[in-house]
Amino acid sequence: MTTIAEKPQLISSRKDAQFEVTLYKNVGVEGAHTLETYLEGGGYKAAKKALTTMTPEAVVDEVKRSGLRGRGGAGFPTGLKWSFMPKPDGRQRFIVCNADESEPGSFKDRYLMEDDPHQLLEGMVIAGYAIGATKGVLYVRGEYYKSYERLREALAEATAGGYLGKGLFGSEFDFEIILHRGAGAYICGEETSLMNSFEGLRANPRLKPPFPAQAGVYGLPTTINNVESFASAVHIIAKGADWYASMGTDDSKGTKLYQVSGPAAKPGVYELPMGATFRELIFELAGGPTEPIKALIPGGSSTPMLAFNDETLDTPMDYGSIAKKGSMLGTGGVILIPQEKCIVNATWNLVRFYAHESCGKCTPCREGISGWMTKMYQKLVSGRGEAGDVELIEIMSRNIKGKAFCPLADACLGPVQSSLALFRDEYEHLAEHGTPKYTKTNWWSA
Ligand SMILES: Cc1cc2nc3c(=O)[nH]c(=O)nc-3n(C[C@H](O)[C@H](O)[C@H](O)COP(=O)(O)O)c2cc1C
Repeated sequence: MTTIAEKPQLISSRKDAQFEVTLYKNVGVEGAHTLETYLEGGGYKAAKKALTTMTPEAVVDEVKRSGLRGRGGAGFPTGLKWSFMPKPDGRQRFIVCNADESEPGSFKDRYLMEDDPHQLLEGMVIAGYAIGATKGVLYVRGEYYKSYERLREALAEATAGGYLGKGLFGSEFDFEIILHRGAGAYICGEETSLMNSFEGLRANPRLKPPFPAQAGVYGLPTTINNVESFASAVHIIAKGADWYASMGTDDSKGTKLYQVSGPAAKPGVYELPMGATFRELIFELAGGPTEPIKALIPGGSSTPMLAFNDETLDTPMDYGSIAKKGSMLGTGGVILIPQEKCIVNATWNLVRFYAHESCGKCTPCREGISGWMTKMYQKLVSGRGEAGDVELIEIMSRNIKGKAFCPLADACLGPVQSSLALFRDEYEHLAEHGTPKYTKTNWWSA
């Protein structure tokens, strides 16, 4: 299995005048998780500024102007999402934090929660105020026990200190946060499944529309964002939209937490301005690969693999540039795939993950991914492949694509289709000879 550094390697060695480490400035700092230290570093000043000097509309507008796009994977503009909430009509409304972080290759939110939980709570206060929600739900991945403990402590401290509760900062705004541990499934990170899970239901995705702004938690107006999105909002309010938008590229603003896993000298989490290149991340910050690499996954395991070459390495890590190369920025979780590793085995490892995590609600995912696709990969990697198997995988993947109820099945097809496009010879070699072209079993073995 993938090994990542016990503590993330920090952070950017960038020296640009424009750029400073922002989201991760407290990560790795002894004691930074406490309220006392957070306040010493200017903590909760942004929330105070929002609640006492800005209208909710002005907060939404500031976040819109900043260009922040959701960091949970899809990159939807955050301010625009906040503006989708219906006008207040007396009903309870919710702000939800998606802290389920389960996509292989993604491990940025974890350290934000472990080492700087108040930053997240402050972001939720700001977002709650902006959308008029007096209740927040913080849904944290079940396996992230340390994150849960740190958040629980932080919630108690913030409540005792008056940063959560009634009449915050002397305003009329009340806000409380409900901390909820996840149910141990990747599908719980899909926003509507998360809401079902929070309500105590089976974590199946819901039909959209209605979208969460219309009918979210308990059928009430809800906005959901990722941990890093909330953390970013704190700094946007503190330093202004113009400051935030001065970093990044045309379609991707601000700073981003990139993650590197696989055979790199210093795997870990690195904060960089949007649009830094893969080369800078992998070679300058993560110390370069420790063995020859043939492909990289740019943004968590669901994003299509890219060949590891100069063209890819010089690609800016922003939404538009990676999309032009046929993949996605996703969560910014970069996974390196060694040259000597059989690509079919590596992909099988991911197919197994998605098959296991399929909730079983819809047929294309249940029968397609968990059934047929799984059996075809099993057949190939166990040396029982035969002529036509590779074509069959290809046809199946085309037939499943876009047909499932939620994006989980397509997420599995990211590595399947891209590995086929890039390394078809390895698939055919395995089907023909029964043995893989590359036999290395290492950190990423099936
Ligand atoms: C199968 C699946 C798993 C997901 N897991 C997560 C997750 O763990 N964390 C997350 O923030 N978003 C996850 N998402 C995306 C969420 O559905 C949602 O788009 C996101 O929380 C919105 O926040 P953002 O706009 O701040 O990115 C997942 C989506 C799918 C389809």
